[in-house]
Amino acid sequence: MPPLLELSAVTKRFGGLVANKDVSLAIGAGEIVGLIGPNGAGKTTLFNCLTGYLHPDAGRIVFAGADVTHARPERVCGLGIARTWQLVRTFGRMTVLENVVCGALKRHSRVGAARQRAWHLLEFTGLAPKADVLAANLTLADKKRLEIARALATEPRLLLLDEAMSGLTPAEMAAAVELVRRIHAELGLALCVVEHVMEVVMPLSQRVVVLDYGEVIAEGPPAEIARNEQVIKAYLGEHYRGR
Ligand SMILES: Nc1ncnc2c1ncn2[C@@H]1O[C@H](COP(=O)(O)OP(=O)(O)O)[C@@H](O)[C@H]1O
Ligand SMILES: [Mg+2]
Repeated sequence: MPPLLELSAVTKRFGGLVANKDVSLAIGAGEIVGLIGPNGAGKTTLFNCLTGYLHPDAGRIVFAGADVTHARPERVCGLGIARTWQLVRTFGRMTVLENVVCGALKRHSRVGAARQRAWHLLEFTGLAPKADVLAANLTLADKKRLEIARALATEPRLLLLDEAMSGLTPAEMAAAVELVRRIHAELGLALCVVEHVMEVVMPLSQRVVVLDYGEVIAEGPPAEIARNEQVIKAYLGEHYRGR
């Protein structure tokens, strides 16, 4: 069976800067892939290309059998890729429930049905008690959780999480990991997780892809990546050796 998502030699330039260079990778249905690498390595740019916010200058992106290399965001979302944002983009002047209804309207044209779906996801993500709170008034952890709920409301097959745990306290981070695990186990989604906290991303991922200066420098099971010399030099650092 072909993978759910397949990138072949994806290149994205900003003027003279090559943010993604010949990136080839695949994600299978139901797989959790960690995407790591230093700041500026091109992780967010890759998510932007995958979701139609940017278009690659070269290469090809195929999702669920459809060529989405030049597809617009709403088409990509309809096919089943959803994301969260590194810098949160909740709708601040709307309530938590309304934010999630926006996602659910992708699949339900009737508001009543969208609300029902949204409620279900507020319960799944633990946000139901805050349904009537304005998104702007949430803590960062809850804003990130809300973005996950809104993304899930579009009923994706692949969820892209861009630093969904950065800036959280250890307790909030543990709760976020627990949510990601439940999304995988109970909803059966494929996930691509960008995260800097190795204690989070290594145990969570079935496979890890490492970007450096826009290029894939390593790919493999977490234990293998953790002792890869090139990855230690480029990103993990000497202190990580032997952990
Ligand atoms: N819209 C843009 N215009 C110009 N340069 C950009 C843009 N987005 C990202 N970049 C540059 O592309 C490189 C990769 O950035 P990014 O994808 O945000 O990396 P990461 O998410 O891995 O930290 C960086 O050098 C960044 O400054
Ligand atoms: Mg980024």
